[in-house]
Amino acid sequence: MADTTASTADSHGGHHGHPADPSKRDLLELMAGAGAAIFGAGIAWSVVSSMNPAKDVLALSSVEVDLAPIQEGQGIVVSWQGKPIFVRHRTKEEIKAAQDVKPSELNDPATDASRVKAGHEKWLVLTGICTHLGCIPLGNKPADLRGEWGGYFCPCHGSQYDTSGRIRKGPAPTNLPVPPYAFESDSKIKIG
Ligand code: FES
Repeated sequence: MADTTASTADSHGGHHGHPADPSKRDLLELMAGAGAAIFGAGIAWSVVSSMNPAKDVLALSSVEVDLAPIQEGQGIVVSWQGKPIFVRHRTKEEIKAAQDVKPSELNDPATDASRVKAGHEKWLVLTGICTHLGCIPLGNKPADLRGEWGGYFCPCHGSQYDTSGRIRKGPAPTNLPVPPYAFESDSKIKIG
């Protein structure tokens, strides 16, 4: 019964019965579809690339990530509390580029040292949600656009983040947040 009702409602909705509504509704549907596609791509990449699903991936409070399989220059996406978390093994060049920036040059001033763990500077861990309107930036797949600063690029409105996840250009107001996490060993972190 419920299914029949729902499909009937859908088919009515597809007839554009209200001249004032269709354009707005179609735009919303388009936006929802685009968001789902982007998020879906991120999840698929994390499954293919990480190959090390965390033991407690279903737990809401924390997620362990084995860093050993992540090669230098490679980034993966894991899910924590429903959010995409970017984990990147930075190259020496990426680390140096991040450290060489003067915070005074930045819209959201922060040293690289304040965004990574001392002694583990090669690991960058970020909440992968653009601080503009919440898209998931590109930058984890090898072929992804990463912007002029070589970090992350948000295709929605062109925000560019550097190799420390700091906003450098575009409408995003603040840096990609660093989620709470800790090293359990040199090759394992616990997020949350
Ligand atoms: S949501 Fe990222 S630039 Fe607008």
